[in-house]
Order: sequence, then structure tokens, then C-alpha cells
Amino acid sequence: MATRKQFDDYMMPVYNPANFIPSKAKGSIVWDDKKKKYIDFASGIAVTSLGHCYPPLVKVLNEQSKKIWHLSNAMTNAPALDLAKKLCKLTFAEKVFFANSGAEAMEAAVKTARKYANTHYGKHKNEIVAFADAFHGRTMMTIALNGSERMTAGFGPMPSGIKHHPYNEIKGLEKVITKKTAAVVLELVQGEAGIIKAKKNFLAKVKKLCKEKNVLIILDEVQSGVGRTGTLFAYEQFNIKPDIVTTAKGLGNGFPIGAILTKDHIAESMQVGAHGTTFGGNPLACSVALEVINSMSKKTVLKNVLRKEKLFIKKLKEINKNLDCFERINTAGLWIGCKLKITETINLDTVLQQCYKNGLMVLKANNNTIRIAPSLIIEDKLIKDGLNIMEKSIAQLQRPRV
Ligand SMILES: Cc1ncc(COP(=O)(O)O)c(C=O)c1O
Repeated sequence: MATRKQFDDYMMPVYNPANFIPSKAKGSIVWDDKKKKYIDFASGIAVTSLGHCYPPLVKVLNEQSKKIWHLSNAMTNAPALDLAKKLCKLTFAEKVFFANSGAEAMEAAVKTARKYANTHYGKHKNEIVAFADAFHGRTMMTIALNGSERMTAGFGPMPSGIKHHPYNEIKGLEKVITKKTAAVVLELVQGEAGIIKAKKNFLAKVKKLCKEKNVLIILDEVQSGVGRTGTLFAYEQFNIKPDIVTTAKGLGNGFPIGAILTKDHIAESMQVGAHGTTFGGNPLACSVALEVINSMSKKTVLKNVLRKEKLFIKKLKEINKNLDCFERINTAGLWIGCKLKITETINLDTVLQQCYKNGLMVLKANNNTIRIAPSLIIEDKLIKDGLNIMEKSIAQLQRPRV
């Protein structure tokens, strides 16, 4: 039987995984290798949005696995073409590029924006503006975009041409978004920072400056996209027309895939050979993602996200009334941040461990926020049961046994 010690013995120590090893899952329930059961409020960090082993996805994956697994980009394939067509039909996009992860989609977005700016306005227009406390991934370009010393320390020199500005801060924006800016990179909801939404007046100013200065708007919807906030993409709720959107996580429900969505006139700057990847557009990944999009774009699924969000809010407020444990509860659909009141016995790690002990998987955001990102079709009963476990866990920590 695999053990946690094996991780320490053989894996590069960039993660600190839980002590239990999940081995089976169905819907929003996960079992570890000792058959202990957990309610899943994590979804592998907002990935398994249709739950684990969702039968229609298992079916298409099985069927595709008997047809064809992989082709080079010297060929195209039906699942990739069908997925691209579907994404264009359901969004602002006219062209799609497939990658394998969120960070890769961000890399493709930045390359595309710079190439577009270079082609249309000249090579001086190459700066990228990003925001403080953002999270765009772990590659060199994306850690440079993240704008936190914590993620770049020791990895320099960083890619150049990136400017940062505080999120939701209007003051001084005109000094960073200039004629030299190729693109602004933005999350409409900052997930890693604790589910923080972009403010209306901040977005309005970003939009105005981008229009005046011919700057592209890249929206990072790697975590917010594919139904998480109650619409297929979050931008539908924010009165903003993006030039490029990145997506990944929920798109494959756990089968690795990322994508950028963009317009014809922008995609035209990327000629044959300008970008590429071995696995992007893989038929297995694309057939799964097509089924995800078909399921996720149904009105009933998206409506239920907003209904279930209300269930969470109601119960979380009750927990807070009983235990006075949260400073704030932020939500954006089924994406929830509970900012903890830190005490001697309560911090993010103790809460996480106690929840695990009691059979609940939750996530961290920032260093003080419990992040909840369950399957978008989690049963109402499991929402109640899971939140009861969270309440019990926090109560136990408030009254540690002597
Ligand atoms: C908003 C956002 N962008 C980009 C990424 C990077 O995605 P990946 O881990 O697939 O590279 C993440 C991952 O958490 C994310 O949340």
C-alpha cells in the first residue's frame, strides 16, 4: 500500500500533501485507502465541477480511448474541432487555442497579446500590466505576473516588461496602463486572495484606459470559468468585453486541458509556428471537455449553482452566529472564502486538519481563508452534512480537550 512517507522519499518536496491517500471517488464523496469517507468541498481546487467519475464523462473517455489517443499537431482531430466550435458558439470567441494547463494558457495569452501589439503598433508596445495578489500559475512568466515576492524569490531573473498595480485601486492606474502597454491581465474574482471580486468603478477605469490606449484585456478565468460563478464564464456578469480569456481547471473536470479564447483579428497575428504544444488539443482531453461544456452550459446546472450558493451562505452565517469564527464570508457562485478569525487554537492549518479528521475536504486561500469550491452539482444534503462537519471541527478547536 502506498504511504505518505513514500512522498517524502521520492517526490520533490514542493507540496505538503495530506497524510491520507485518496483512492476512490464518486460524485462529491472521496474514500481514502483505509476506506474512510470524506465529503469533497475542494474538487481538486475547483476542477471536478461535475463531481468525480461523472458517468457521461466516463462514457466519452472510454469511447474515445478505443478510437484514438494522440496525434501530433501535424493533424487535427474531430473532438478538438467540435470543442473549439462549441466554445466559440457559447462565448465572445471566434478562435480557440488548446493548451494543457492554466499556466500554459496564460503563457499563450501573453504571447498572443504581445504579438498582436507588436504587429499592429510596433515593438515598443510590449508591457503587461498585472495586479497585486493575483495568481496566474507557476511558470516563469506567470510567477512574474503574480506580483508577489513570495513566488519569485530565488528564481530570478524574471521575464521583463511586467508592471503591477494594487487590485481594485483606481488611483494611479493611468500611470501603469500607457501607450507602451500591450495587455492588462486580470482576474474578475481573485480566488487565491480569498474570493475577492473586481469593483465596478475599477473595471470601468481599466476598460476606459485600455480602449483609449489600444490595450488588450486578458481575463484569467482558469478558476472562475466553466460555471464556477453561476455563468459559463464570469465575464458575463461583469459588463466587460474581453479580448482574450484563459480557461483550464473545470474545463476537463480533471482531465488536463487549458485553452485561450479570442477574436479573429487577434488570432490572425499568430501565424503557423508562432506557438504550439505537443499535447494541446489531445483527442482524449477534448472529447471529455466537450461533454463538460455540454453539461455545464445547461441552464439548470448554472441556476442551481446560484441556488446552492445561497444554501452555503445561509448555513455559514449560522455557523458564524454560533461560533463567531469568520471575519468575512465572500462568495462568487460555488466559490466561497471564509476569512478566519485567527486565535491561539484556530488557524488555517488546524481547521484544515480537523476537517480532514472529521471527514471533510476543504481548501486554503491566502493564509487566513478557508476556500470552498465543491462540485457544481453537489447534492444539497451533502452541503448540509459538510457544513455540519466544518462547524463541529471549528467548535472542537475552540474547546480543545485538556
Ligand atoms: C486564476 C488561475 N490562473 C492560473 C492558474 C494556473 O493553472 P495551472 O495550475 O493549471 O497551471 C490557476 C491555478 O490555480 C488559477 O487559479
